[in-house]
Amino acid sequence: MSAEIIDGRKVASSIKEAIKSEIGDFPHSPELAIIMVGNDYASDIYVRNKQKAAAEVGIVSQFHHLDEDISQAELLNIIEKLNNDDEVNGIIVQLPLPEHLDTHRIIDSISPLKDVDGFHPLNTGKLQNNEKPYFIAATPLGIMDLLKKVCPDLSGKNAVIIGASLIVGRPLATLLLNQDCTVSVTHSKTEDISEYTKKADIIVAACGVANLVKSEWIKEGAILIDVGINRLENGKICGDIDFNDVFEKAKAITPVPGGVGPMTIAMLLKNTVEAYKLQHKII
Ligand code: GUN
Repeated sequence: MSAEIIDGRKVASSIKEAIKSEIGDFPHSPELAIIMVGNDYASDIYVRNKQKAAAEVGIVSQFHHLDEDISQAELLNIIEKLNNDDEVNGIIVQLPLPEHLDTHRIIDSISPLKDVDGFHPLNTGKLQNNEKPYFIAATPLGIMDLLKKVCPDLSGKNAVIIGASLIVGRPLATLLLNQDCTVSVTHSKTEDISEYTKKADIIVAACGVANLVKSEWIKEGAILIDVGINRLENGKICGDIDFNDVFEKAKAITPVPGGVGPMTIAMLLKNTVEAYKLQHKII
């Protein structure tokens, strides 16, 4: 048996088509403000992809590319202006930020009603309480969408996440728990991650370690979601799961590239449309 390849690019493309047609009925275009501080190589690529995808569906994006050494007060001031600008529906601050900036303080300053990344504590708190947040983080949201396609009933499933980040691992754990999965979140201090993954129906790898998950780590028929984007010495891109090694044993797997990545962008666009609707009281 070989695994079903979950085509994130295809799913994302149909979500983007639906967004484009929905926006066509709005009196004006939704607007997304993207803030990036400094020149992180990966952030640069992510942000360009977000801007390109926004333009494709008819979302206007304004890009605020700020100096590496911008002060916290200056950055807070820019966010405050965007919070008060009625033309701006969604605001994201690309992470990571330079070390001199307090990431929590910056995220907390974004209006929860414009927080299309879903990182504000009001939104993460609502998610924790199994209450509807205004926004849920795009990567976990995209993963849930892909998972539902290969496993419509998640209730009772044993899910193991590798990586406890604020952007992926933690919100995803909550989303899976809210669907009645049994969830284990493993991380860099976990003594033996494979002890957990061997029993998992679903494994989500989001740790940034190239090809970490091998065939001996998984049980027959496991569903594998790979969030990793790692560049090998030979220049090739690979995920956190050793795709070729697990392919015969898994039930389904997301490829890298073309799996979770395109879904993250599609969900950010969807959140931006939701923000527009929220602010224009369109139900
Ligand atoms: N850095 C890596 N992923 C993300 C994301 O989804 N949003 C933001 N703002 N920064 C990121």
